[in-house]
Amino acid sequence: MKFKNLFVLSLVASGLVLTACGSSDSSDTSGGSDSSSSSESGTAMVVYFSATGNTEEVAQIISNYIDSPIYELEPVDPYTSEDLNYSDSNSRVSQERNDPNHLTELVNVAFDEFVDSEYIFLGAPVWWGELSWVINDFVLSNDFTDKTIIPFATASSSNFSVDDLKKLSEEATWMEGRRFRQSEISEENVYNWIDSLNINF
Ligand SMILES: Cc1cc2nc3c(=O)[nH]c(=O)nc-3n(C[C@H](O)[C@H](O)[C@H](O)COP(=O)(O)O)c2cc1C
Repeated sequence: MKFKNLFVLSLVASGLVLTACGSSDSSDTSGGSDSSSSSESGTAMVVYFSATGNTEEVAQIISNYIDSPIYELEPVDPYTSEDLNYSDSNSRVSQERNDPNHLTELVNVAFDEFVDSEYIFLGAPVWWGELSWVINDFVLSNDFTDKTIIPFATASSSNFSVDDLKKLSEEATWMEGRRFRQSEISEENVYNWIDSLNINF
């Protein structure tokens, strides 16, 4: 009996020693690491819709530069060039634009890396002064709590506003977006923009 008590005591004691070692190790590590940098850092992914390839080009440049996952948002019913004719008041885009309840259904809105991504680069073409509504299904279907959306777009010339999109995901932090005119799409311009965000992705 006595012997058994002694054995138990020694087990408890060695456990205490191990615990003490463990805690001193971890405090040493945290105390020793000093990654002093003024910029923020975070994991990122790129999600985009592109009807004619321009926004895709920018999305690829971003993803290559920051070495992140990249996903295309694909409509279940893809847009043909006829569908995209904004000069025709009967075209698909014109009709969708005039329907306040319209939502373009996407093939996939759930992506593996989403949960671990703190920053989402979200890209689309400018359609009538806004980011194309094709991305709405993705924004509505995901929870952006503790996530920051960095919008980007391509356009012939217009800039865009994300005021309406913000209403679709009020839990997200929305950064100011960046529009690239078609003539401005280049690695250099995209790299400079990402550098100006001052975030270590
Ligand atoms: C339906 C529609 C609406 C558009 N509206 C605008 C606009 O308001 N301002 C603008 O500068 N360009 C506008 N554009 C041109 C596109 O924004 C531009 O071609 C863009 O780079 C296309 O990107 P994508 O190739 O990724 O689809 C529009 C194009 C379409 C199809």
